[in-house]
Amino acid sequence: MQPRILFVCLGNICRSPMAEAALRAQAVEAGIALTIDSAGTGGWHVGKAPDPRAQAETLRHGIDIAGYRARQVAVEDFRTFDFIYALDPQNLRDLHAIAPRRPLAKVGLLMDLVPGREGSAVIDPYYGDEQDFRATWEDVRAAARQIVAAFSR
Ligand code: 4NP
Repeated sequence: MQPRILFVCLGNICRSPMAEAALRAQAVEAGIALTIDSAGTGGWHVGKAPDPRAQAETLRHGIDIAGYRARQVAVEDFRTFDFIYALDPQNLRDLHAIAPRRPLAKVGLLMDLVPGREGSAVIDPYYGDEQDFRATWEDVRAAARQIVAAFSR
């Protein structure tokens, strides 16, 4: 079965959908089959499309995420995904707090994948501006590169 990867942020309307988009595009480009999804630790935006600024940023890179819908992370996710990547350290703590005793998924911090960025957050752009969404894109694109490289070996 192909590797299953879940990205988790707080609202599932900014950072994790952008991470999902970046990895989907890079996996297609690299010709590798991955199952990719995203979710939020919080439930406020469940059912909503990504933030318009996140949509605009991914669209600048030719990727349309208007059809994505936010969902909240669930305990089953720890059994149906192989890897769960938290977008920031608080999301990681929240994931550990709800993880079942014997998860299938390896749970880690996304930026730990990027050399020199270990331990760091993908900064929440929700209260920021267009520049912050550009920075989010650069971070998630860099992390997606590492994931693709790992599965291309
Ligand atoms: P995300 O951004 O976690 O990257 O999707 C946020 C979205 C919504 C909120 C916070 C962060 N909020 O407080 O509603």
